[in-house]
Amino acid sequence: MLTGMKHLHSTLAIILLVALVISIVITAVNYFQAKPYNRKIALFGLMAGHIQLLVGLVLYFTSPLGLQSFSGENMSNSLARLYFLEHPLTMVLALILITVGYSKAKKAEDYAANRTVFFMYTIALILILTRIPWSTWSLLN
Ligand code: HEM
Ligand code: HEM
Repeated sequence: MLTGMKHLHSTLAIILLVALVISIVITAVNYFQAKPYNRKIALFGLMAGHIQLLVGLVLYFTSPLGLQSFSGENMSNSLARLYFLEHPLTMVLALILITVGYSKAKKAEDYAANRTVFFMYTIALILILTRIPWSTWSLLN
């Protein structure tokens, strides 16, 4: 079960990164060319993000690298701290930005919608890229 969730989380990470890049590029093109907002593209990024959030939360409460390793002692271990604190916290924050961006865009006119999704999704992607456990990611190692 844990192994399955880890594989799922790892695969969804790739899907989310691709979804965000596609959402950002298409929204940026629409923004700079003053074209209509494409809600379906933004929804692609939102859904990939929400599914990953759900799987990440399950992992956080089941994996030995999640909540179970939350301790004062582990605070000084940078890899442990990445897994039990920095990774989950940053990813939740990124997902909040994506959700707020998507929701605000839903009620805005085209120009503002494109701008909101472009900025919020880009900041979220940067946050995500800074806290992926690159050095230990099973897909890359
Ligand atoms: C930890 C789990 C989750 C949380 C906390 C969460 C939270 C939220 C919130 C707060 C919104 C509101 C956006 C708005 O104001 O319109 C939202 C929308 C949405 N969520 Fe999630 N979600 C979760 C899991 C999922 C999952 C597993 C899916 C499956 C695909 C999903 C799909 C969606 C979709 C499609 C919308 C937007 C619908 C729309 O307004 O067009 N979410 N979610
Ligand atoms: C939203 C974007 C997220 C991305 C792109 C992402 C990506 C990743 C990646 C690439 C790994 C390494 C997996 C491996 O080595 O096979 C990982 C591990 C992990 N993630 Fe996430 N994650 C996200 C969100 C979350 C969230 C929201 C939580 C918890 C609230 C979370 C909790 C964890 C945990 C506990 C692990 C360690 C699992 C283990 O190896 O036992 N992740 N994540």
